Amino acid sequence: MKGMIFNVAEKFIVEHYGEDMLDDIIDECNLITKEPFVGPGTYPDEDLIEIVVKAAAMLNISVGELLKKLGRYSFGKLRDRHPEFVTPFTHPKPFLKSVEGVIHVEVKKLIDGVKLPTFQYADPADDELVITYFSERKLYPFMEGLIQGVADHFETSIQQKTRIFEKEGIEFCDYHIKFN
Ligand code: HEM
Repeated sequence: MKGMIFNVAEKFIVEHYGEDMLDDIIDECNLITKEPFVGPGTYPDEDLIEIVVKAAAMLNISVGELLKKLGRYSFGKLRDRHPEFVTPFTHPKPFLKSVEGVIHVEVKKLIDGVKLPTFQYADPADDELVITYFSERKLYPFMEGLIQGVADHFETSIQQKTRIFEKEGIEFCDYHIKFN
């Protein structure tokens, strides 16, 4: 995972729980990476999971809950870094539909060494969207949080129903979103 995602996670912890809490969490972790995480660097996914698992334990919340909060917070940071992907849109639905074919395609060209999830879309009604997520990382609650972060940005209230399922031995997760 890119250093920028680690930096967003660190920033989230500092903003919500303080600098000392971040230091305590990092002290508790057994990380593969010994140096500080820097934006353009690429680091083992295991290190991010280690930080999230230790942070959840110390903050007394579930790993899923923390990943969801982190996703929601991360969208604002991704948007601030790359407003050009967001400003053409006024509603979350067409924006979300642009992630797979436009945003993540451009991100792949711009940022070396990224590993991105894949999405498929279904459009069951004007006020609904289904995103089928696949990633070996299986960051299901992080994805749910990112979608909530998109809804926050467009000041739209949404409901999400998630469903993990297997097809031909591969695990996917559907996010069925209803826009109000
Ligand atoms: C301005 C918009 C966005 C930018 C610039 C962006 C960029 C990125 C970057 C740099 C990563 C890290 C990949 C890595 O370190 O290997 C990432 C991961 C990810 N992105 Fe996006 N992204 C954006 C919007 C979104 C949105 C709206 C969603 C969800 C609907 C999304 C879903 C994800 C997920 C779930 C991951 C985690 C990686 C995984 O699951 O394997 N992204 N994105």
